[in-house]
Amino acid sequence: MKPQVLIVGGGMITHDQLLPSLYQMQRQSRIGEISVCALRGSDWQPLMDAPDLAEAFPRQSFRGFPDSGDPDVPQRDLFRELIARMPPHGIVVVAVPDHLHFEVVMTALQHDQHVCSVKPLVLKHEEALEIGREAYARGLAVGVEYHKRFDDRSLMARRKYRAGLFGEFKLGTACLLEKWHYRHSNFQNWMTTANSDAFTYIGCHYVDLVHFITGLLPAAVSVYGIPDRYPNGNTGFLWTDARIVWNNGACLNVQNALGFPDAAPGTNTQGLVMYCKGESDGALISHSDQYRGLKYSYTQKGGDPGATIYAEPSPDYFQYVDLGGPGLTPVGYGYRSVEYIIQTCLRVGSETGSLARRQAMLTEIDATGIMATPANSSYNELVIEAARESILHGGKMVSIEHSPEAAFAEALL
Ligand SMILES: NC(=O)c1ccc[n+]([C@@H]2O[C@H](COP(=O)([O-])OP(=O)(O)OC[C@H]3O[C@@H](n4cnc5c(N)ncnc54)[C@H](O)[C@@H]3O)[C@@H](O)[C@H]2O)c1
Repeated sequence: MKPQVLIVGGGMITHDQLLPSLYQMQRQSRIGEISVCALRGSDWQPLMDAPDLAEAFPRQSFRGFPDSGDPDVPQRDLFRELIARMPPHGIVVVAVPDHLHFEVVMTALQHDQHVCSVKPLVLKHEEALEIGREAYARGLAVGVEYHKRFDDRSLMARRKYRAGLFGEFKLGTACLLEKWHYRHSNFQNWMTTANSDAFTYIGCHYVDLVHFITGLLPAAVSVYGIPDRYPNGNTGFLWTDARIVWNNGACLNVQNALGFPDAAPGTNTQGLVMYCKGESDGALISHSDQYRGLKYSYTQKGGDPGATIYAEPSPDYFQYVDLGGPGLTPVGYGYRSVEYIIQTCLRVGSETGSLARRQAMLTEIDATGIMATPANSSYNELVIEAARESILHGGKMVSIEHSPEAAFAEALL
């Protein structure tokens, strides 16, 4: 029997990336049954009815939960029962709102399940350490899905930076602005000032990427946030400007928002520029992560929110291509990232007989540093904690304290 996979959370990211990636692995007979547990029965129904998933995977389906009771009544704790029923060494994919990740991840670990969690793993550094301790004690893999790591340009920059070809990072600027229409999505119910902000939600990708490329660690954070109203009247920090100072004194500026014009081409705007210092000259890494060279002008506008007649689609994140056979094949770093983490969970889980061997594998995975784990990426939680404190205090600079346990994990890097 192939390991079962339970996705907890049936929203946008499950539709756009997680479920199709898992369907592809199921099609390849690498994983077994897939279930999706959302908050309400009515939340997962759109996934079951999604025309793009049906076209790409005509012979595949998932078991949706809650599967009884009023489909509009929330069943907040059902995921606990479903996880408790799974045979050991299955995989729980965590895709609930940010502030709920911790309880789902810990429930999974306590029932001997491997975990793939969307970013950010958790919002508190201490929680990341607790997850790391529990996972190691039980010999379970936990991968955090920072998919930009699996964009080939990130891997190229990392390899060349670590070979010394870019010298030392000094100043950088990154941005990721989602389109305006995101304000109308379910975000308005949870990405409010009390829970999160545009930097915590999307800026963390570029903080993680600068570490991934350079190996540097964040030392201080300041985030200035501008509160704005969602259509439902809730308030969120929908425009943010962050400054990250690194442990070599370098400085990265990150701008994030739910405010890129709906009429603009592309699904968002994003990119990273890093100015570096060599022996006798400057060095430069410049990635346009939104405009990837494609210009399409269609005969008519598509039906998706934010669709435009003139578009600059990214061929690199997640696309379906027709390679023959039934359905379509998902390609791109969104797929590769999920595949890498799930494959790592399967590899660790296949060593069911020996805890010591699984622990040795986990140590090697942490040290390799390609997959983000609680041990090798908990600087992200330090940044988020500092960012939340900063944004709630008008953008004050907050230093990052590295605990002895975190310092041990960082020594792996
Ligand atoms: N670029 C990225 O890496 C990226 C992109 C989008 C989202 N995400 C992350 O994915 C997570 C989910 O985002 P989304 O956009 O899919 O959100 P969403 O609001 O579209 O969906 C959230 C889902 O969680 C479910 N849920 C809430 N409480 C639950 C509970 N107690 N039990 C079971 N299900 C529950 C809801 O039913 C819903 O299906 C967030 O942590 C977000 O930061 C990451």
